[in-house]
Amino acid sequence: MKKLKEMLNKLDGKSYGGYKEIRGRYDFLDYTLEILRVQGDSFASPSLFSVEIKLLKYGYSKDYYDNPSKKVAFEDYILRKTNKLISKLGKKSGSGKSGQLNILSPKQEILKRSAVEIIDDTLIIKFYGGLPANGRRIASRGAIEMIFNEMPKISKELKIPRVNLDKLQQHIKTNLKSDSIRRAIKKENLIVFIENNSKLARTSSIDDRVLKDGIPFNSPTSLEVTLHIDNDDTVTGMGISKGITVITGGGFHGKSTLLTAIEKGVYNHISGDGREGVITDRDTVKIRAEDGRWIDGLDISNFINNLPHKKDTHNFTTANASGSTSQAANIMEALELGATTLLIDEDTTATNFMVRDRKIQELIPHKKEPITPFIERIESMKDKDISVIIVVGGLGDYFSMADRIIMLDEYNLLDVTEKAKIISDKFENSNVRGVTEKFNIPFRKLDPQKTNKIFISDRCKIKTRGLDELLVDKENIDIRHLEQYVEELNGIFSVLISFNNKF
Ligand SMILES: Nc1ncnc2c1ncn2[C@@H]1O[C@H](COP(=O)(O)OP(=O)(O)OP(=O)(O)O)[C@@H](O)[C@H]1O
Ligand SMILES: [Mg+2]
Repeated sequence: MKKLKEMLNKLDGKSYGGYKEIRGRYDFLDYTLEILRVQGDSFASPSLFSVEIKLLKYGYSKDYYDNPSKKVAFEDYILRKTNKLISKLGKKSGSGKSGQLNILSPKQEILKRSAVEIIDDTLIIKFYGGLPANGRRIASRGAIEMIFNEMPKISKELKIPRVNLDKLQQHIKTNLKSDSIRRAIKKENLIVFIENNSKLARTSSIDDRVLKDGIPFNSPTSLEVTLHIDNDDTVTGMGISKGITVITGGGFHGKSTLLTAIEKGVYNHISGDGREGVITDRDTVKIRAEDGRWIDGLDISNFINNLPHKKDTHNFTTANASGSTSQAANIMEALELGATTLLIDEDTTATNFMVRDRKIQELIPHKKEPITPFIERIESMKDKDISVIIVVGGLGDYFSMADRIIMLDEYNLLDVTEKAKIISDKFENSNVRGVTEKFNIPFRKLDPQKTNKIFISDRCKIKTRGLDELLVDKENIDIRHLEQYVEELNGIFSVLISFNNKF
Protein backbone atom coordinates (compact mmCIF):
# COMPACT_ATOMS: atom_id res chain seq x y z
CA MET A 1 0.00 0.00 0.00
CA LYS A 2 2.80 2.37 0.96
CA LYS A 3 4.85 1.10 -1.94
CA LEU A 4 2.05 1.93 -4.36
CA LYS A 5 1.78 5.49 -3.06
CA GLU A 6 5.53 5.96 -3.43
CA MET A 7 5.46 4.59 -6.96
CA LEU A 8 2.64 6.93 -7.91
CA ASN A 9 4.42 9.94 -6.45
CA LYS A 10 7.53 9.10 -8.46
CA LEU A 11 5.53 8.74 -11.65
CA ASP A 12 4.01 12.23 -11.44
CA GLY A 13 4.38 14.15 -14.69
CA LYS A 14 5.97 11.20 -16.53
CA SER A 15 4.53 9.92 -19.78
CA TYR A 16 1.29 7.95 -19.43
CA GLY A 17 2.88 4.59 -20.35
CA GLY A 18 4.70 4.72 -17.00
CA TYR A 19 1.49 3.64 -15.27
CA LYS A 20 2.21 0.08 -16.51
CA GLU A 21 4.58 -0.24 -13.56
CA ILE A 22 1.80 -0.18 -11.00
CA ARG A 23 0.25 -3.45 -12.16
CA GLY A 24 0.19 -5.90 -9.27
CA ARG A 25 -1.37 -6.78 -5.90
CA TYR A 26 -1.39 -4.47 -2.90
CA ASP A 27 -2.60 -5.26 0.62
CA PHE A 28 -4.71 -2.58 2.23
CA LEU A 29 -5.94 -2.68 5.82
CA ASP A 30 -8.85 -5.05 5.27
CA TYR A 31 -8.83 -5.83 1.56
CA THR A 32 -6.45 -6.54 -1.29
CA LEU A 33 -6.39 -4.31 -4.34
CA GLU A 34 -5.19 -5.74 -7.61
CA ILE A 35 -4.42 -3.61 -10.64
CA LEU A 36 -5.09 -6.12 -13.37
CA ARG A 37 -4.82 -4.10 -16.56
CA VAL A 38 -3.49 -0.62 -17.20
CA GLN A 39 -4.87 1.46 -20.06
CA GLY A 40 -2.58 2.81 -22.78
CA ASP A 41 -3.73 6.43 -22.51
CA SER A 42 -6.38 8.42 -20.71
CA PHE A 43 -8.85 8.14 -23.59
CA ALA A 44 -8.49 4.35 -24.02
CA SER A 45 -10.84 1.89 -22.30
CA PRO A 46 -10.18 2.33 -18.59
CA SER A 47 -7.93 0.20 -16.41
CA LEU A 48 -9.19 -2.91 -14.63
CA PHE A 49 -9.03 -3.21 -10.86
CA SER A 50 -10.21 -5.75 -8.34
CA VAL A 51 -10.96 -5.51 -4.65
CA GLU A 52 -10.81 -8.76 -2.70
CA ILE A 53 -12.34 -9.15 0.71
CA LYS A 54 -12.36 -12.14 3.05
CA LEU A 55 -16.01 -12.90 3.68
CA LEU A 56 -15.56 -14.68 7.00
CA LYS A 57 -13.47 -11.80 8.36
CA TYR A 58 -16.22 -9.39 7.31
CA GLY A 59 -18.65 -11.47 9.36
CA TYR A 60 -20.60 -13.23 6.57
CA SER A 61 -21.47 -16.81 7.39
CA LYS A 62 -20.90 -19.52 4.78
CA ASP A 63 -24.63 -20.07 4.87
CA TYR A 64 -24.97 -17.16 2.40
CA TYR A 65 -23.03 -18.94 -0.32
CA ASP A 66 -22.76 -22.64 0.44
CA ASN A 67 -24.49 -23.82 -2.72
CA PRO A 68 -24.32 -22.60 -6.35
CA SER A 69 -27.76 -21.00 -6.31
CA LYS A 70 -27.10 -19.01 -3.13
CA LYS A 71 -23.64 -18.06 -4.36
CA VAL A 72 -24.90 -16.60 -7.67
CA ALA A 73 -27.57 -14.63 -5.81
CA PHE A 74 -25.07 -13.33 -3.26
CA GLU A 75 -22.65 -12.26 -6.03
CA ASP A 76 -25.53 -10.64 -7.92
CA TYR A 77 -26.61 -8.74 -4.80
CA ILE A 78 -23.08 -7.44 -4.20
CA LEU A 79 -22.84 -6.28 -7.82
CA ARG A 80 -26.12 -4.36 -7.50
CA LYS A 81 -24.97 -2.71 -4.30
CA THR A 82 -21.51 -1.89 -5.65
CA ASN A 83 -22.98 -0.57 -8.87
CA LYS A 84 -25.18 1.86 -6.96
CA LEU A 85 -22.21 3.06 -4.93
CA ILE A 86 -19.73 3.29 -7.81
CA SER A 87 -22.08 5.44 -9.87
CA LYS A 88 -21.67 8.07 -7.14
CA LEU A 89 -17.92 7.60 -6.70
CA GLY A 90 -15.05 8.74 -8.86
CA LYS A 91 -14.08 12.30 -9.44
CA LYS A 92 -13.30 13.44 -12.92
CA SER A 93 -9.92 15.08 -12.74
CA GLY A 94 -7.99 15.71 -15.91
CA SER A 95 -8.24 14.50 -19.48
CA GLY A 96 -10.18 11.58 -21.00
CA LYS A 97 -11.66 9.14 -18.49
CA SER A 98 -9.39 10.36 -15.68
CA GLY A 99 -10.72 9.51 -12.23
CA GLN A 100 -13.94 7.86 -13.39
CA LEU A 101 -15.02 4.55 -11.86
CA ASN A 102 -17.55 2.13 -13.24
CA ILE A 103 -18.75 -1.45 -13.01
CA LEU A 104 -21.17 -3.59 -15.02
CA SER A 105 -24.82 -2.49 -14.69
CA PRO A 106 -27.09 -5.41 -13.88
CA LYS A 107 -30.67 -5.46 -15.12
CA GLN A 108 -33.64 -7.59 -14.01
CA GLU A 109 -31.88 -10.95 -14.27
CA ILE A 110 -29.87 -12.77 -11.63
CA LEU A 111 -26.80 -13.98 -13.50
CA LYS A 112 -23.38 -15.48 -12.99
CA ARG A 113 -20.85 -12.82 -13.94
CA SER A 114 -17.12 -12.30 -13.79
CA ALA A 115 -17.58 -8.79 -12.29
CA VAL A 116 -18.29 -10.23 -8.84
CA GLU A 117 -17.18 -13.71 -7.86
CA ILE A 118 -16.73 -15.70 -4.70
CA ILE A 119 -13.76 -18.03 -4.88
CA ASP A 120 -13.11 -20.06 -1.71
CA ASP A 121 -14.26 -17.55 0.94
CA THR A 122 -12.95 -14.53 -0.94
CA LEU A 123 -15.24 -12.04 -2.63
CA ILE A 124 -13.65 -10.51 -5.73
CA ILE A 125 -15.14 -7.36 -7.26
CA LYS A 126 -13.80 -6.24 -10.62
CA PHE A 127 -14.38 -2.71 -11.85
CA TYR A 128 -12.93 -0.11 -14.17
CA GLY A 129 -11.13 3.09 -13.28
CA GLY A 130 -9.65 5.77 -15.51
CA LEU A 131 -6.09 6.43 -14.34
CA PRO A 132 -5.79 10.23 -14.22
CA ALA A 133 -3.74 12.26 -16.68
CA ASN A 134 -2.99 15.81 -17.59
CA GLY A 135 -2.85 15.57 -21.36
CA ARG A 136 -0.47 12.66 -21.96
CA ARG A 137 1.24 12.95 -18.57
CA ILE A 138 0.56 11.02 -15.38
CA ALA A 139 -1.40 12.98 -12.77
CA SER A 140 -0.36 11.31 -9.51
CA ARG A 141 -2.53 13.37 -7.20
CA GLY A 142 -5.64 12.30 -9.03
CA ALA A 143 -4.49 8.66 -9.03
CA ILE A 144 -3.82 8.75 -5.28
CA GLU A 145 -7.21 10.34 -4.67
CA MET A 146 -8.90 7.61 -6.75
CA ILE A 147 -7.02 4.64 -5.30
CA PHE A 148 -6.61 5.76 -1.67
CA ASN A 149 -9.80 7.77 -1.06
CA GLU A 150 -12.46 6.61 -3.49
CA MET A 151 -11.80 2.87 -3.89
CA PRO A 152 -11.70 2.09 -0.14
CA LYS A 153 -15.36 3.14 -0.02
CA ILE A 154 -16.22 -0.03 -1.97
CA SER A 155 -15.05 -2.43 0.74
CA LYS A 156 -16.41 -0.15 3.47
CA GLU A 157 -19.87 -0.33 1.94
CA LEU A 158 -19.76 -4.14 2.12
CA LYS A 159 -19.32 -4.29 5.88
CA ILE A 160 -22.26 -5.90 7.57
CA PRO A 161 -24.00 -3.02 9.27
CA ARG A 162 -24.09 -1.31 5.88
CA VAL A 163 -25.40 -4.39 4.08
CA ASN A 164 -29.03 -5.06 4.79
CA LEU A 165 -28.94 -8.77 5.63
CA ASP A 166 -32.72 -9.12 5.39
CA LYS A 167 -32.66 -7.84 1.83
CA LEU A 168 -29.72 -10.07 1.00
CA GLN A 169 -31.59 -13.09 2.42
CA GLN A 170 -34.65 -12.16 0.38
CA HIS A 171 -32.55 -11.94 -2.78
CA ILE A 172 -31.06 -15.36 -2.12
CA LYS A 173 -34.47 -16.84 -1.29
CA THR A 174 -35.93 -15.58 -4.58
CA ASN A 175 -33.15 -17.24 -6.56
CA LEU A 176 -33.42 -20.49 -4.58
CA LYS A 177 -37.14 -20.62 -5.27
CA SER A 178 -36.69 -20.02 -9.02
CA ASP A 179 -34.02 -22.72 -9.22
CA SER A 180 -36.24 -25.04 -7.26
CA ILE A 181 -39.10 -24.48 -9.75
CA ARG A 182 -36.57 -25.11 -12.54
CA ARG A 183 -35.78 -28.54 -11.09
CA ALA A 184 -39.47 -29.29 -10.55
CA ILE A 185 -40.45 -28.55 -14.16
CA LYS A 186 -37.73 -30.91 -15.41
CA LYS A 187 -39.13 -33.62 -13.16
CA GLU A 188 -42.68 -33.00 -14.38
CA ASN A 189 -41.59 -32.87 -18.03
CA LEU A 190 -42.79 -29.29 -18.48
CA ILE A 191 -41.03 -26.75 -20.65
CA VAL A 192 -42.62 -23.65 -19.11
CA PHE A 193 -44.17 -22.77 -15.78
CA ILE A 194 -45.84 -19.44 -14.98
CA GLU A 195 -46.85 -18.95 -11.37
CA ASN A 196 -50.27 -17.45 -10.74
CA ASN A 197 -50.13 -13.74 -9.89
CA SER A 198 -46.94 -13.20 -11.87
CA LYS A 199 -46.80 -9.82 -13.56
CA LEU A 200 -45.63 -10.11 -17.13
CA ALA A 201 -46.17 -6.64 -18.60
CA ARG A 202 -43.20 -4.24 -18.57
CA THR A 203 -43.11 -0.49 -17.95
CA SER A 204 -42.15 0.21 -21.58
CA SER A 205 -40.16 -1.30 -24.42
CA ILE A 206 -37.03 0.41 -23.08
CA ASP A 207 -37.74 -0.09 -19.38
CA ASP A 208 -37.78 -3.75 -18.41
CA ARG A 209 -39.17 -3.19 -14.92
CA VAL A 210 -42.64 -4.40 -13.95
CA LEU A 211 -45.70 -2.43 -15.08
CA LYS A 212 -47.06 -1.70 -11.62
CA ASP A 213 -50.77 -1.80 -12.48
CA GLY A 214 -50.49 -4.66 -15.00
CA ILE A 215 -53.10 -7.43 -14.87
CA PRO A 216 -51.69 -10.39 -12.89
CA PHE A 217 -51.35 -13.75 -14.61
CA ASN A 218 -53.91 -16.40 -13.89
CA SER A 219 -53.72 -19.92 -15.33
CA PRO A 220 -56.69 -21.51 -17.08
CA THR A 221 -57.89 -24.35 -14.82
CA SER A 222 -57.20 -27.02 -17.45
CA LEU A 223 -53.50 -26.11 -17.55
CA GLU A 224 -53.05 -25.41 -13.87
CA VAL A 225 -50.45 -27.45 -12.02
CA THR A 226 -49.13 -27.41 -8.47
CA LEU A 227 -45.44 -28.13 -8.18
CA HIS A 228 -43.68 -29.36 -5.08
CA ILE A 229 -40.53 -27.37 -4.52
CA ASP A 230 -37.87 -27.21 -1.80
CA ASN A 231 -38.69 -26.63 1.87
CA ASP A 232 -41.99 -28.51 1.56
CA ASP A 233 -43.33 -25.57 -0.38
CA THR A 234 -45.64 -25.60 -3.41
CA VAL A 235 -46.28 -23.22 -6.30
CA THR A 236 -49.39 -23.12 -8.48
CA GLY A 237 -49.61 -21.83 -12.02
CA MET A 238 -49.74 -22.78 -15.69
CA GLY A 239 -47.59 -25.65 -16.88
CA ILE A 240 -46.82 -26.03 -20.59
CA SER A 241 -45.82 -29.53 -21.67
CA LYS A 242 -43.69 -30.45 -24.66
CA GLY A 243 -45.28 -30.40 -28.10
CA ILE A 244 -46.90 -27.62 -30.11
CA THR A 245 -48.48 -24.75 -28.20
CA VAL A 246 -50.34 -21.96 -29.96
CA ILE A 247 -50.92 -18.63 -28.24
CA THR A 248 -53.62 -16.58 -29.94
CA GLY A 249 -55.89 -13.62 -29.28
CA GLY A 250 -56.82 -10.23 -30.66
CA GLY A 251 -54.35 -7.45 -31.37
CA PHE A 252 -53.04 -5.68 -28.25
CA HIS A 253 -54.40 -8.40 -25.95
CA GLY A 254 -50.97 -9.39 -24.56
CA LYS A 255 -49.72 -12.26 -26.76
CA SER A 256 -46.21 -10.95 -27.36
CA THR A 257 -45.93 -9.91 -23.71
CA LEU A 258 -46.63 -13.50 -22.66
CA LEU A 259 -44.13 -14.91 -25.16
CA THR A 260 -41.46 -12.41 -24.12
CA ALA A 261 -41.90 -13.42 -20.47
CA ILE A 262 -41.48 -17.07 -21.53
CA GLU A 263 -38.36 -16.23 -23.56
CA LYS A 264 -36.77 -14.43 -20.60
CA GLY A 265 -37.77 -17.30 -18.30
CA VAL A 266 -34.50 -19.01 -19.21
CA TYR A 267 -33.07 -16.62 -16.58
CA ASN A 268 -34.03 -16.09 -12.94
CA HIS A 269 -35.32 -12.65 -12.00
CA ILE A 270 -34.84 -10.35 -9.05
CA SER A 271 -37.49 -10.06 -6.41
CA GLY A 272 -40.16 -7.52 -7.39
CA ASP A 273 -39.63 -8.10 -11.11
CA GLY A 274 -42.97 -9.87 -11.48
CA ARG A 275 -41.44 -12.77 -13.42
CA GLU A 276 -39.70 -14.58 -10.53
CA GLY A 277 -42.14 -17.45 -11.01
CA VAL A 278 -41.84 -17.59 -14.82
CA ILE A 279 -39.48 -20.45 -15.51
CA THR A 280 -38.61 -21.78 -18.95
CA ASP A 281 -36.45 -24.76 -19.83
CA ARG A 282 -32.95 -23.41 -20.56
CA ASP A 283 -32.73 -25.03 -24.02
CA THR A 284 -35.35 -22.65 -25.36
CA VAL A 285 -34.51 -20.18 -28.12
CA LYS A 286 -36.52 -17.30 -29.54
CA ILE A 287 -36.51 -17.40 -33.33
CA ARG A 288 -37.18 -14.50 -35.64
CA ALA A 289 -36.57 -13.39 -39.19
CA GLU A 290 -33.41 -11.37 -39.58
CA ASP A 291 -33.04 -10.41 -43.20
CA GLY A 292 -29.66 -9.07 -44.13
CA ARG A 293 -27.81 -11.41 -41.78
CA TRP A 294 -24.73 -13.38 -42.78
CA ILE A 295 -25.00 -17.17 -43.17
CA ASP A 296 -21.90 -19.32 -43.39
CA GLY A 297 -21.91 -22.95 -44.57
CA LEU A 298 -25.24 -23.91 -42.99
CA ASP A 299 -27.67 -26.66 -44.00
CA ILE A 300 -31.09 -25.04 -44.38
CA SER A 301 -32.43 -27.69 -46.75
CA ASN A 302 -35.20 -28.72 -44.32
CA PHE A 303 -36.91 -25.51 -45.33
CA ILE A 304 -35.26 -24.14 -48.43
CA ASN A 305 -34.47 -25.94 -51.69
CA ASN A 306 -34.14 -25.17 -55.39
CA LEU A 307 -32.93 -21.63 -55.05
CA PRO A 308 -32.40 -19.59 -58.20
CA HIS A 309 -29.11 -20.45 -59.98
CA LYS A 310 -29.05 -23.84 -58.15
CA LYS A 311 -27.50 -22.32 -55.03
CA ASP A 312 -26.76 -25.20 -52.65
CA THR A 313 -28.88 -25.08 -49.50
CA HIS A 314 -27.14 -28.04 -47.80
CA ASN A 315 -24.12 -25.81 -47.39
CA PHE A 316 -25.58 -22.37 -47.71
CA THR A 317 -23.55 -19.19 -47.58
CA THR A 318 -24.70 -15.65 -48.16
CA ALA A 319 -23.69 -12.21 -46.97
CA ASN A 320 -27.24 -10.98 -47.26
CA ALA A 321 -29.96 -13.46 -46.26
CA SER A 322 -33.57 -12.92 -47.23
CA GLY A 323 -36.40 -12.92 -44.67
CA SER A 324 -37.20 -16.62 -45.17
CA THR A 325 -33.62 -17.90 -45.41
CA SER A 326 -32.63 -15.90 -42.33
CA GLN A 327 -35.44 -17.45 -40.30
CA ALA A 328 -34.50 -20.93 -41.53
CA ALA A 329 -30.87 -20.23 -40.56
CA ASN A 330 -31.82 -19.02 -37.10
CA ILE A 331 -33.80 -22.22 -36.52
CA MET A 332 -31.08 -24.53 -37.81
CA GLU A 333 -28.33 -22.82 -35.80
CA ALA A 334 -30.40 -23.03 -32.62
CA LEU A 335 -31.08 -26.73 -33.17
CA GLU A 336 -27.44 -27.47 -33.96
CA LEU A 337 -26.51 -25.99 -30.60
CA GLY A 338 -28.99 -28.18 -28.78
CA ALA A 339 -32.18 -26.10 -28.52
CA THR A 340 -35.21 -28.30 -27.88
CA THR A 341 -37.92 -25.61 -27.73
CA LEU A 342 -38.40 -22.81 -30.26
CA LEU A 343 -40.41 -19.66 -29.58
CA ILE A 344 -41.90 -17.83 -32.53
CA ASP A 345 -43.96 -14.64 -32.65
CA GLU A 346 -45.87 -13.89 -35.83
CA ASP A 347 -44.90 -10.21 -35.31
CA THR A 348 -41.27 -10.94 -36.16
CA THR A 349 -41.49 -13.70 -38.75
CA ALA A 350 -41.23 -13.81 -42.53
CA THR A 351 -44.82 -14.52 -43.62
CA ASN A 352 -43.78 -16.67 -46.60
CA PHE A 353 -41.70 -18.80 -44.23
CA MET A 354 -44.73 -19.44 -42.01
CA VAL A 355 -47.48 -20.27 -44.61
CA ARG A 356 -48.38 -20.27 -48.30
CA ASP A 357 -52.05 -19.68 -48.95
CA ARG A 358 -54.03 -21.26 -51.78
CA LYS A 359 -53.92 -18.28 -54.10
CA ILE A 360 -50.15 -18.02 -53.86
CA GLN A 361 -49.89 -21.77 -54.48
CA GLU A 362 -52.03 -21.37 -57.57
CA LEU A 363 -49.83 -18.63 -58.96
CA ILE A 364 -46.45 -20.02 -57.87
CA PRO A 365 -46.40 -23.82 -58.13
CA HIS A 366 -44.44 -25.83 -55.57
CA LYS A 367 -41.62 -26.62 -57.96
CA LYS A 368 -41.05 -22.89 -58.42
CA GLU A 369 -41.10 -22.13 -54.69
CA PRO A 370 -37.90 -22.84 -52.75
CA ILE A 371 -39.60 -22.59 -49.34
CA THR A 372 -41.22 -25.48 -47.50
CA PRO A 373 -43.10 -23.36 -44.99
CA PHE A 374 -42.74 -23.93 -41.27
CA ILE A 375 -46.37 -25.10 -41.02
CA GLU A 376 -45.50 -28.08 -43.23
CA ARG A 377 -42.47 -28.92 -41.11
CA ILE A 378 -43.73 -28.40 -37.59
CA GLU A 379 -45.01 -31.97 -37.16
CA SER A 380 -41.83 -33.61 -38.43
CA MET A 381 -39.94 -31.41 -35.95
CA LYS A 382 -42.20 -32.64 -33.19
CA ASP A 383 -41.28 -36.19 -34.19
CA LYS A 384 -37.69 -35.18 -33.37
CA ASP A 385 -38.83 -34.04 -29.93
CA ILE A 386 -38.60 -30.34 -30.78
CA SER A 387 -41.30 -28.29 -29.10
CA VAL A 388 -42.69 -25.05 -30.50
CA ILE A 389 -44.56 -22.25 -28.80
CA ILE A 390 -45.95 -19.96 -31.43
CA VAL A 391 -47.92 -16.71 -31.23
CA VAL A 392 -50.47 -16.35 -34.03
CA GLY A 393 -52.94 -13.56 -34.54
CA GLY A 394 -53.62 -14.17 -38.23
CA LEU A 395 -52.47 -17.70 -39.02
CA GLY A 396 -55.30 -19.92 -37.77
CA ASP A 397 -54.06 -22.85 -39.88
CA TYR A 398 -51.67 -23.65 -37.02
CA PHE A 399 -54.68 -24.70 -34.89
CA SER A 400 -54.91 -28.06 -36.61
CA MET A 401 -51.48 -29.32 -35.52
CA ALA A 402 -51.44 -27.74 -32.03
CA ASP A 403 -51.50 -29.84 -28.87
CA ARG A 404 -52.98 -26.91 -26.98
CA ILE A 405 -54.31 -23.51 -27.95
CA ILE A 406 -54.47 -20.71 -25.43
CA MET A 407 -56.08 -17.36 -26.01
CA LEU A 408 -55.48 -13.99 -24.45
CA ASP A 409 -58.62 -12.04 -23.90
CA GLU A 410 -57.95 -8.61 -22.43
CA TYR A 411 -54.78 -10.01 -20.81
CA ASN A 412 -56.66 -12.97 -19.29
CA LEU A 413 -55.67 -16.43 -20.45
CA LEU A 414 -58.21 -19.01 -21.63
CA ASP A 415 -57.75 -22.57 -22.83
CA VAL A 416 -59.58 -22.61 -26.19
CA THR A 417 -58.15 -25.88 -27.52
CA GLU A 418 -61.49 -27.59 -28.03
CA LYS A 419 -63.24 -24.62 -29.57
CA ALA A 420 -60.36 -23.87 -31.93
CA LYS A 421 -60.14 -27.52 -33.00
CA ILE A 422 -63.84 -27.52 -33.94
CA ILE A 423 -63.30 -24.37 -36.00
CA SER A 424 -60.21 -25.89 -37.53
CA ASP A 425 -62.18 -28.99 -38.63
CA LYS A 426 -64.91 -26.78 -40.10
CA PHE A 427 -62.56 -24.89 -42.42
CA GLU A 428 -60.16 -27.12 -44.27
CA ASN A 429 -56.52 -25.98 -44.16
CA SER A 430 -55.90 -24.48 -47.52
CA ASN A 431 -52.22 -24.67 -47.69
CA VAL A 432 -50.65 -27.59 -45.91
CA ARG A 433 -49.05 -30.31 -47.99
CA GLY A 434 -48.24 -33.53 -46.21
CA VAL A 435 -44.45 -33.36 -46.08
CA THR A 436 -43.14 -36.81 -45.32
CA GLU A 437 -39.38 -36.27 -45.42
CA LYS A 438 -37.76 -36.58 -42.03
CA PHE A 439 -36.57 -33.42 -40.38
CA ASN A 440 -32.83 -33.57 -40.39
CA ILE A 441 -30.72 -31.87 -37.71
CA PRO A 442 -27.21 -31.62 -39.11
CA PHE A 443 -24.22 -31.05 -36.94
CA ARG A 444 -21.30 -28.97 -38.14
CA LYS A 445 -17.84 -29.50 -36.79
CA LEU A 446 -16.27 -26.13 -36.17
CA ASP A 447 -13.01 -25.45 -37.90
CA PRO A 448 -10.36 -25.73 -35.14
CA GLN A 449 -8.09 -23.41 -37.09
CA LYS A 450 -10.60 -20.65 -36.53
CA THR A 451 -12.07 -21.64 -33.19
CA ASN A 452 -8.81 -22.31 -31.37
CA LYS A 453 -8.28 -18.62 -31.51
CA ILE A 454 -11.41 -18.03 -29.49
CA PHE A 455 -11.29 -20.96 -27.11
CA ILE A 456 -7.65 -21.50 -26.42
CA SER A 457 -5.66 -18.39 -27.17
CA ASP A 458 -6.11 -15.70 -24.57
CA ARG A 459 -4.94 -13.21 -27.14
CA CYS A 460 -8.34 -13.30 -28.78
CA LYS A 461 -10.17 -10.16 -27.73
CA ILE A 462 -13.90 -10.39 -27.14
CA LYS A 463 -15.71 -7.13 -26.60
CA THR A 464 -19.26 -5.91 -26.83
CA ARG A 465 -20.83 -2.65 -27.83
CA GLY A 466 -23.98 -2.54 -25.76
CA LEU A 467 -26.40 -5.27 -26.73
CA ASP A 468 -25.91 -4.62 -30.44
CA GLU A 469 -22.50 -5.75 -31.43
CA LEU A 470 -19.96 -8.38 -30.49
CA LEU A 471 -16.36 -7.94 -31.52
CA VAL A 472 -14.24 -11.07 -31.79
CA ASP A 473 -10.76 -9.80 -32.56
CA LYS A 474 -11.43 -7.48 -35.46
CA GLU A 475 -14.61 -9.16 -36.63
CA ASN A 476 -17.89 -7.38 -35.91
CA ILE A 477 -20.90 -9.59 -35.27
CA ASP A 478 -24.32 -8.00 -35.35
CA ILE A 479 -26.28 -9.40 -32.38
CA ARG A 480 -29.16 -6.91 -32.29
CA HIS A 481 -31.68 -9.63 -33.01
CA LEU A 482 -30.59 -12.06 -30.29
CA GLU A 483 -33.59 -11.19 -28.18
CA GLN A 484 -32.58 -13.35 -25.24
CA TYR A 485 -29.24 -11.58 -24.90
CA VAL A 486 -29.97 -9.32 -21.94
CA GLU A 487 -26.71 -8.04 -20.57
CA GLU A 488 -23.33 -7.16 -22.01
CA LEU A 489 -21.02 -10.14 -22.39
CA ASN A 490 -23.20 -12.46 -20.33
CA GLY A 491 -24.69 -15.20 -22.35
CA ILE A 492 -22.06 -14.82 -25.03
CA PHE A 493 -19.65 -16.61 -22.75
CA SER A 494 -22.12 -19.35 -22.01
CA VAL A 495 -22.59 -19.82 -25.74
CA LEU A 496 -18.82 -20.05 -26.18
CA ILE A 497 -18.52 -22.48 -23.28
CA SER A 498 -21.26 -24.67 -24.69
CA PHE A 499 -19.50 -24.60 -28.07
CA ASN A 500 -16.28 -25.54 -26.37
CA ASN A 501 -17.81 -28.53 -24.61
CA LYS A 502 -19.36 -29.77 -27.79
CA PHE A 503 -16.57 -29.62 -30.28
N1 LIG B 1 -51.15 -8.35 -18.25
C1 LIG B 1 -51.10 -7.13 -18.74
N2 LIG B 1 -51.54 -6.07 -18.02
C2 LIG B 1 -51.50 -4.83 -18.52
N3 LIG B 1 -51.01 -4.52 -19.71
C3 LIG B 1 -50.54 -5.51 -20.47
C4 LIG B 1 -50.57 -6.87 -20.03
N4 LIG B 1 -50.03 -7.64 -21.01
C5 LIG B 1 -49.68 -6.81 -21.99
N5 LIG B 1 -49.99 -5.53 -21.69
C6 LIG B 1 -49.75 -4.35 -22.53
O1 LIG B 1 -50.62 -4.41 -23.64
C7 LIG B 1 -50.00 -3.93 -24.81
C8 LIG B 1 -50.10 -4.93 -25.94
O2 LIG B 1 -49.44 -6.11 -25.60
P1 LIG B 1 -48.76 -7.06 -26.67
O3 LIG B 1 -47.76 -6.34 -27.48
O4 LIG B 1 -48.32 -8.23 -25.91
O5 LIG B 1 -50.03 -7.41 -27.59
P2 LIG B 1 -50.19 -8.44 -28.78
O6 LIG B 1 -51.36 -9.30 -28.45
O7 LIG B 1 -48.91 -9.12 -29.07
O8 LIG B 1 -50.59 -7.47 -29.98
P3 LIG B 1 -50.37 -7.65 -31.57
O9 LIG B 1 -51.26 -8.75 -32.03
O10 LIG B 1 -50.79 -6.35 -32.13
O11 LIG B 1 -48.94 -7.96 -31.81
C9 LIG B 1 -48.57 -3.59 -24.41
O12 LIG B 1 -48.46 -2.21 -24.18
C10 LIG B 1 -48.36 -4.37 -23.13
O13 LIG B 1 -47.41 -3.77 -22.27
MG1 LIG C 1 -47.62 -8.96 -30.65
